[in-house]
Amino acid sequence: MTDQSEHLDHLKAELLEIALDAAARAGAFLRDGRPDDLGVAATKSSAVDVVTEMDIASEKLITGLLADRRPDDGVLGEEGADVEGTSGVQWVIDPIDGTVNYLYGLPSWAVSIAARKDGETLVGVVHAPMRGETYSAVLGQGAFVNDLPARVRPAPAFGLALVGTGFGYLAERRARQAEVVRQLVPEVRDIRRGGSAAIDLCDVAAGRLDAYYERGLNPWDYAAGDLIAREAGALTGGRPGEPLSTDLTIAAPPGLFEALQTRLEDLGAWHD
Ligand code: IPD
Repeated sequence: MTDQSEHLDHLKAELLEIALDAAARAGAFLRDGRPDDLGVAATKSSAVDVVTEMDIASEKLITGLLADRRPDDGVLGEEGADVEGTSGVQWVIDPIDGTVNYLYGLPSWAVSIAARKDGETLVGVVHAPMRGETYSAVLGQGAFVNDLPARVRPAPAFGLALVGTGFGYLAERRARQAEVVRQLVPEVRDIRRGGSAAIDLCDVAAGRLDAYYERGLNPWDYAAGDLIAREAGALTGGRPGEPLSTDLTIAAPPGLFEALQTRLEDLGAWHD
């Protein structure tokens, strides 16, 4: 092993340990501290794009821990954290992915934390406290559900695929997304809308969904789940020939990915 790869492995192990610790602490805080009368603290892109006081407090908890442990790293968080950093490592954080589920007391929400170096995701952790599960991956080292290896299911025929998706917060976008689903639903086994993109990607990784796609995600929604899905054997991407992005995020095992990507291109799933 060269000095350089030894150094990288050491860095990955350190980032994983910190991400697991931060996600566990934030998850416990969110699970145990959710006020019964939790309300909306602010709205963002539309009246249904909400932030609760708990999103803000969870992001503060995570960024505080990161600043303590790795003060030179950059941080990008859904609720406004935006630090450039000098180390080349950037943390991408969603303090609650599935905020609307959390607001309503539905269990599908998660803390999502990824660490990137020079634009490449090295570590991803998605912690879903109400499932009692933590999904994690390190680049080149596989994906895990708690301590057990995660693996995608083998690709089914297109017509037998269980496909997860989601909807954005803007009415025009949602109308278009519903039109894509209207055309897709008779062609596949069924559609699921869980309400947390990070968990959807991990469900592909764990073989609980055959595929997932969505238009309009932000990096904090997909950064950790993307790596976890890939390390579990999924392909991820956007429009044909493009990496996943805000335009379109697709995850599925080889053999299904290509067919879904082609169909979504035909259906115009990448535009409003
Ligand atoms: C949302 C969730 C949802 C997806 C939305 C996301 P948030 O993230 O991941 O499943 O459909 O597009 O914005 O707002 O709960 O962090």
